[in-house]
Amino acid sequence: MNVEPDDIIERLVRLLADGRFHSGEELGLLTGISRAAVWKRLQQLEPLGLSVHSVRGRGHRLEKPLDLLDRERVLAGLDARASDRCTGLDLKFAVDSTSAYLGRRASEYTSGHVCLTEYQTAGRGRRGRPWVSPFGSNLYLSLLWRFQGAGQLGGLSLVVAVAVIEALERIGAARLLLKWPNDVLYEGRKLAGILIEVAGEATGECQVIVGVGVNMGMPSLEGDQIDQPWADLTETGARLDRNHTAGAIIASLVRGLERFERYGLAPFLNAWRVRDALYGQPVTVQFADSELVGIGRGIDEVGQFLVEHGEGTERLSYGEVSIRRYAS
Ligand code: BTN
Repeated sequence: MNVEPDDIIERLVRLLADGRFHSGEELGLLTGISRAAVWKRLQQLEPLGLSVHSVRGRGHRLEKPLDLLDRERVLAGLDARASDRCTGLDLKFAVDSTSAYLGRRASEYTSGHVCLTEYQTAGRGRRGRPWVSPFGSNLYLSLLWRFQGAGQLGGLSLVVAVAVIEALERIGAARLLLKWPNDVLYEGRKLAGILIEVAGEATGECQVIVGVGVNMGMPSLEGDQIDQPWADLTETGARLDRNHTAGAIIASLVRGLERFERYGLAPFLNAWRVRDALYGQPVTVQFADSELVGIGRGIDEVGQFLVEHGEGTERLSYGEVSIRRYAS
């Protein structure tokens, strides 16, 4: 069930974020509602993925303290260049989707605007799938970028994948790989997903919204809703600081997109290839009404996926790839 958190919920969560006990009376006083209303509101935190522990005589606390997003701490992670190019940062308590949010504001916002949120009520994944987005435990980030001509955007999703994986490596995540075109995997399970939405003309200016979701501490209840094997950053040896991670990803995206604007895909090919999870693997590629079975043979100069099969090598620019496991 998705709830739309309002101001009272936001204030309650901010008060409880320290993980300590707070009495119903204190919470009521600080949020301007009765103790009975506090109790009712606390029940609404559960569907956000927040477990509240209540003890008579002591009050209420969150089962785990929260590392909430903080503008200054995110911005501290940007170098001078990225600070210049990150033209705005909207830090939301809850939105439907950070990408949908930027899409609605694209006409007022300049290239380089970022939206981060604690919670998405309608997180969007690729191929119309939902993106499971519980409160305060993962990262949900979108960046608006403008390019001259959608015709020049071939390979963009691989560029973004390289930017994200390099940012995660920089904060200490080890043994990450990429699954074409842009899933970040840890031990074969999905750690981060990227959604790229393009609007505009093939020749004139076009607008891209890059959406990045990173699992950082997925609660098990929400994890059970994910329909594919997943991993989170707690397993990877990375420094677990949401603000620092967000800063690192923004800086890496800005650097990557600027470089892509100037030089295209070529400078990213090697970085992508050395992290290719599918190279030499038996793969199945699903299309709308067919599938192709073969061996992954990496990517070509324009970022197409190469699959070797009985009759030769196919170059693919779309399709859902999975690794085939042999029955033992
Ligand atoms: C995928 O299916 O692999 C793509 C997932 C992308 C999820 C991110 S979370 C931030 C941004 N907002 C969304 O609604 N989706 C993207």
